[in-house]
Amino acid sequence: RTAVPTLFVLFGGTGDLAKRKLFPGLYRLYRRGLVPGEFRVIGTGRTSPGGDEAYRALLEEWVRKFAGDDFDDAAWARFAARITFTASSAQDGWALAARVRAAQAQLGPGAETVLYLSVPPTTMEPVVSMLGRTGLAAGARLVLEKPFGSDLASARSLNAALHGVFDEDRLFRIDHFLGKEAVQNILAFRFANGMFEPLWNRDRIAYVQIDVPEVIGIEGRAAFMESTGTFRDMVCTHLFQMLGFLALEPPASLTADALREEKRKVFAAVRDIAPRDVVFGQYDGYRAEDGVDPASTVETFAAVRVWVDNWRWQGVPFLLRTGKAMAESRRTITLGLHEPPTRLFPSAEGTPNELVFDLSDDARVRVEFRVKRPGPRLEVGHAQLSLDVSEAFPGEQALEAYERLLLDVLNDDRTLFTSADEVERLWELSDPVLEGAPKVLPYPRGSWGPDAVRELAGERGWRLPE
Ligand code: BG6
Repeated sequence: RTAVPTLFVLFGGTGDLAKRKLFPGLYRLYRRGLVPGEFRVIGTGRTSPGGDEAYRALLEEWVRKFAGDDFDDAAWARFAARITFTASSAQDGWALAARVRAAQAQLGPGAETVLYLSVPPTTMEPVVSMLGRTGLAAGARLVLEKPFGSDLASARSLNAALHGVFDEDRLFRIDHFLGKEAVQNILAFRFANGMFEPLWNRDRIAYVQIDVPEVIGIEGRAAFMESTGTFRDMVCTHLFQMLGFLALEPPASLTADALREEKRKVFAAVRDIAPRDVVFGQYDGYRAEDGVDPASTVETFAAVRVWVDNWRWQGVPFLLRTGKAMAESRRTITLGLHEPPTRLFPSAEGTPNELVFDLSDDARVRVEFRVKRPGPRLEVGHAQLSLDVSEAFPGEQALEAYERLLLDVLNDDRTLFTSADEVERLWELSDPVLEGAPKVLPYPRGSWGPDAVRELAGERGWRLPE
C-alpha cells in the first residue's frame, strides 16, 4: 500500500499537535521508509507563517526538537522539499482546493488524499462543510482529532455533518491511546497465548484498574481545560477505549470490523454510571492559573467505577483514574486476580496475583505473585516477573502512538480508530455523568487525588504507587 502516491493535507498545520507529534512522526516514518515514495504535504491554517520557506524553517525547528536523535540534515532537506503551506479557513478554502488539485495532478492518477483535521472542536463542523463545498472531500480520507463533540447532541450533529460529505469507511477518528504498542500487545497477550485468556473473566479477575495519573498541570492549555475538563479529555476517550479493548470477547479475526463489533458490544453492556461511582477533583492552585476562571468548577481529576453487565465481567469493578498535577506520571492497566480459595500460608504478603501492562512507549508487562522466601522456613513473600518488550526484541524499534496511527491512515487501515456508533454510545454513558457531576473536590498538587477516591477502589485499594 505504501507505494500509492499520497497527498497529506494538515488543517492546524501550525498548531501544537503538528509541532509535537504529527511532523516529527511523519518525518520519522519517512526516515524508516514507511511513507509512500511519492508523498506531498500541504500544511494549512488561518494564518500563514509567511510562505513555504518560512513554514519549512518552522517545521525544521520543531522536528529538530521533537524527533530527537533521528534528525539528519540531508534527510530533512529531502523530506522538507515535499512540504508547502496554503492558508485556508472554514469560510474560504478555494485557494487550498486549487493547490490540492495541482498537487494531485503532479502525483498523477491513482494518487490518494488524506485530510487531517487538527482543529478546535467548534471549528470542525464548519471545516467539514467547507470540504464538501470546495470539492476537497471528493475521494479523500478524513482524520479527526479528539475531542469528538462535547456531548451526545454535538457528537450526533458532527457525525451527521460528516456523513453528509464522507462515507463512514473514509473516516478515521483518532484516539491516540489506541496507537500505543501496549494496546495491541493486550490483543497479543490474550489471543496469541494459551496462558492468559483463561484468566480473563469474572471467575479469576477480582478487579481491573486503568490508571493514568499525570504530573503535568495544564501547561498553558487553560482554554482547552476550561471548556473540556478531564472527564471529556481523558475518560470518555482514552480510558473508555482501553476498557473496550481489555473487556472484548475474542473476535473472529483481527479485522477492523470484527474488533470494532466486539468493542461495540462491550460499550453496549456498560451499566449506566451512578453518581456514587464518580469522583471529580481539582488541584489546588488551578484557579490561579493564567486563563482560568477564578471560580472555575472544572475537574482536573476524574475517577470512575464502571460495571460491564455481561456474562464475562458481571461484578468485576473497572476502576478508571486520571488527573493533572498528580504524584507520578503513569499509564497502567492492572488486572487483579482473586485470592486463592484457602489461606495455606498465613504469612503471605502483598496482593495475590496481578497482571500489569505499562502503556508507556517502551511497553512493559509484569506479573506480581507470591513465592517461597529462600531459607529454612516455608514463608511466602512477594515477587514479580517483568518483561521489557523492547529488550525481548533488540534492534526492533517501536512506533510512537501517532506514528502508528499516521501509518495506518496512509495504509487505509481503520482497526485502531473509533466509529460513529461507538463515540455516540460513549457520550450516552458520559452525558449523565457530566450533568449529575458530583461536587468537584480539592486535592493537593503532587497527590493521588481527593481522599474520596480511596473508597471507590474498595478493600485492595488503588494499585499505584507500587
Ligand atoms: C491527550 C490529552 O489526548 O493525552 C492530554 O489531551 C494528555 O491532556 C495526553 O496529557 C496524554 O497522552 P500520552 O500519550 O502522553 O499518555
